[in-house]
Order: sequence, then C-alpha cells, then structure tokens
Amino acid sequence: MILRRIDKKQPSEFKFSKNNLSWAKKQIAKYPQDRQQSAVIPLLYRAQEQEGWVSKPAIEEIAKMLKMAPIRVYEVASFYFMFHLSPVGEKAHIQVCGTTPCMLRGSEKLVEICKKRISKKQKELSSDGKLSWEEVECIGACSNSPVVQVGSDYYEDLSEESFVNLLDKLIDGNPEPGSRKKRFSSEPEGFFKSSKFKIEEKTNASVKLFLEKPFSTDRKK
Ligand code: FES
Repeated sequence: MILRRIDKKQPSEFKFSKNNLSWAKKQIAKYPQDRQQSAVIPLLYRAQEQEGWVSKPAIEEIAKMLKMAPIRVYEVASFYFMFHLSPVGEKAHIQVCGTTPCMLRGSEKLVEICKKRISKKQKELSSDGKLSWEEVECIGACSNSPVVQVGSDYYEDLSEESFVNLLDKLIDGNPEPGSRKKRFSSEPEGFFKSSKFKIEEKTNASVKLFLEKPFSTDRKK
C-alpha cells in the first residue's frame, strides 16, 4: 500500500475555466439529484487536465460543487493513481510503464533516459520545469510495448532513440501518438504488408483520436 499525500506547496485558489465549468455542470446534471457525487471522478480529471495536477483548492472547489465533505473528494483523488497530487511538467508528464511485458522490451532503458534527461527521482520536475516522469503499472497496451502515456495519448513500440526524439518533440511541439513502428493496431509487425488483408484508414486508432481532437477542454498542455 502506497500512501499518497497532496503536495506541501499549494496554490491559493482553483477555478474551473468558463468552458470547463460549463462542461462540469453538464456532467453533474447527468445524475439524479441525490446521486450527483458520482461526478467526482470526471470533475477531478477535468481539473487535472486544466492545471496538470489536482491541488487542495481544486479538491475543495469540487467538494463544494458536489456538496461533499472535502475529505471524501481527497479520498478519491489519493486512491487513484491517475490523479497527480503534485505539480507535473509544464509540457508533459511522462508515465513509463514498467510492468513485465514492457520491462522485457526495454522500459528500464526508458527509465534511465528519464533519470538523465528529466530528473533523478520520479515525480520531480526537470530543471526547466517542462517535463516530469513516473513509472506506472501496466497501461493496457502490452502488445505494443514498451509504451509511455502522456495525458490521454499513448506512444508505443518505443526504442531508446525514438524515446529521446519523443522527449524533444514533447517540449517543442505536439508529437503524434501511436506506434513508432507504424503498426495500425496490435497486429504482428509488417502484417498488412505481407497479408491479403488491407486497411482503409491511413492512421492508426491513437493517431485518429489525436487528429480528431474529440475532447474540447481548456488544457495547459
Ligand atoms: S505491461 Fe506495459 S502496457 Fe502492459
């Protein structure tokens, strides 16, 4: 059991942006009057998307919106590892999967690169504040290992070289997610070149989502 605590340094306040507030109200309205606390996870996640992490003022604001005791919201935020309770890199927080399939395919090398390029310890900011990293458990894309996650995007089939390249691009631009070996999905490498099956789509599922940008949110990233 890992104890997760909120950061010692906290901002003085938290406010949802106008768009995010209107989105949050719609989420709350999906639930019956006496069940609106069920919106706690989507609201926490939107607060994190907006600020990069979940602060104490954000927890208190969400508690007020959902008529919950702040400790109840804190319990949720501290239970789920997807919520960051400390500030993360201004450009990206990189979650490196370290579970067995990714480890067998080179995730330890990615962790070494993070230690050299970002910070020796995970969950600490790089010296310029742009990046941070942490090792996480399986993120469900084992067949395309090793994999890292940044926000909602997955970067798959990484090598040391493509990972270093990805870090540069995360600082300078908006790199396309998906397989670095140009796999469409989790099919064997080169499958579509060698088989009679053809795919119509030009991009894989991760890239398609990225290009469509289906979620309209005010993100710092
Ligand atoms: S082990 Fe890394 S995604 Fe499953």
